[in-house]
Amino acid sequence: MKYLVNIRFLSYFLFVFFIFSAQSCNPSAARLPIQSSKKSIASKAMVVSAHPLATKIGLEVMKQGGNAVDAAVAVQFALAVVYPGAGNIGGGGFMIIRTKDGSTDALDFREMAPAAAHRNMYLDADGNVIKGLSLDGHRAAGVPGSVAGMFAAHERYGKNKDISALIAPAFRLAQKGFSISQQEATRLNKFQDAFTKLNTTTPVFVNKKGWKSNDLLRQKELAQTLQAIMDRGTAGFYEGPVADKIVAEMAAGKGIITHQDLKNYEAKWRKPISMPYKDYEVISMPPPSSGGIALAQLLEIASHYPIKSWGFQSVNSSHLIAEAERRVYADRAEHLGDSDFYPVPQKNLLDPAYLRKRMKSYKPSAVSSSEELSAGSFAPPESEETTHFSIVDAEGNAVSITTTLNASYGSKTVVTGAGFLLNNEMDDFSSKPGTPNFYGLIGAEANAIEAGKRMLSSMTPTIVTKDKNLFMVLGTPGGSTIITSVFQTILNVVEYDMGMAEAVAKPRFHHQWLPDQIYYEEGALGEVTIKGLEKLGHQTKLRESIGRVDAILVRADGTLEGGADPRGDDHAEGF
Ligand code: DON
Repeated sequence: MKYLVNIRFLSYFLFVFFIFSAQSCNPSAARLPIQSSKKSIASKAMVVSAHPLATKIGLEVMKQGGNAVDAAVAVQFALAVVYPGAGNIGGGGFMIIRTKDGSTDALDFREMAPAAAHRNMYLDADGNVIKGLSLDGHRAAGVPGSVAGMFAAHERYGKNKDISALIAPAFRLAQKGFSISQQEATRLNKFQDAFTKLNTTTPVFVNKKGWKSNDLLRQKELAQTLQAIMDRGTAGFYEGPVADKIVAEMAAGKGIITHQDLKNYEAKWRKPISMPYKDYEVISMPPPSSGGIALAQLLEIASHYPIKSWGFQSVNSSHLIAEAERRVYADRAEHLGDSDFYPVPQKNLLDPAYLRKRMKSYKPSAVSSSEELSAGSFAPPESEETTHFSIVDAEGNAVSITTTLNASYGSKTVVTGAGFLLNNEMDDFSSKPGTPNFYGLIGAEANAIEAGKRMLSSMTPTIVTKDKNLFMVLGTPGGSTIITSVFQTILNVVEYDMGMAEAVAKPRFHHQWLPDQIYYEEGALGEVTIKGLEKLGHQTKLRESIGRVDAILVRADGTLEGGADPRGDDHAEGF
């Protein structure tokens, strides 16, 4: 595909040019990262993402006549530059779309296991999981899906014909650099040793002096890769010089992705999970994500209990939520995986009669028996390094995307000469039945490793309608906690009457069956509820922050409220 400057986007380039020229004219201004805004009210369109520059790029696309999908493509590529810990072209994700006329679609651009992958690839001779092999470096990477995903979404739903114009702002940010925030500096510093150890050449993320807020991060090799994608479309990534560099990187570090794997990759359109909750309809991601099914199960269960009158994070409502989560995560471990490879019993799992039966053992005054629990406990991860963004355009189209490299900066391995990080998504497979992964999740046959299969995810990009009208767009990072964060944010709005920014900011808690524990953030649950839950028999544990929900609510007067999570640099802005 040839790179053509589209006249309609000329002023858009001027906007990006403005950002950079402002930086070069005034060095001190150049060093100031753009401030983030956590709440925004607007009448037409809204973008909420993990980074102010990405949000502004998405907004500008829509101001110039692009729709929500065009904006999403621009935001995804921009995040790959300005939010390298999770934004990506070397990872994958999921997209839920609802068009202005109410039709919905789900796009799976999840990574895929390479052809040489097999179920025992992370086990030693005794059949034990080799620590770190599915997480660190080359062998942890699945075949990336993000570039194919963006082109597939644009081809089906994009309004602006020239996709290269949507990638150009990311290209410029990579080429010229941008000022990093304090949070980014802290994250980069945390992984300096890993960046050095897990790379065959020194990547741009290594800084011997240590990163600090306002440092300029320039990614020239990444810019070249983006240029190749602008010039040649998906072939600029999955074939040709960039593919050669990926395969050479694999050879240098015992990785297994081949030219054929890259060529074979395709994004897949899927039928969204759609389920009623009282006056609402919740539309979310089907397998290979567990998110939609698990969220549907949780909402169906919750709909039979008076959680509103019980009160926000009261003992009763928190106990019910934890007990529902315990059962749903147990189902996830056993039954969920890539439905192209394993017969996921979706219909049964979503059957209200089945869920009623599941809750028969629920007791309002005691925790459920955990005698069948067998796996060990895990230290919850400290980082929330997936990213979600929500977009609504002036016509009423909505896009909800969650995208990831898996852990912070993925495998930490950068493709030499191509400047982008590879994911470590292979860890989302079940390397060995019953052995917890990075997020403490266990799995079995349904999520065993197979060539060409997609690893089970918890990502839950979601759109909610009310009386058939767009109501909410939301999602979050957080590994295993994603599902419960989305669930609680929906309840905060529909049961506890919160606005979007408030619902997103509220402290959260989480139960995932194993380990048998309620994790809560600072400020969540409150002393009385914690004591009450412990009295019932729950184990409770304070942990690092849970999730970074970026969401949009359509308010009763038709205006949009963007809620950006205060846990990060996330930014909501509209017009
Ligand atoms: O797909 C999944 O469920 C995980 N790879 C998501 C990872 C994630 O959210 C990282 N943030 N903590």
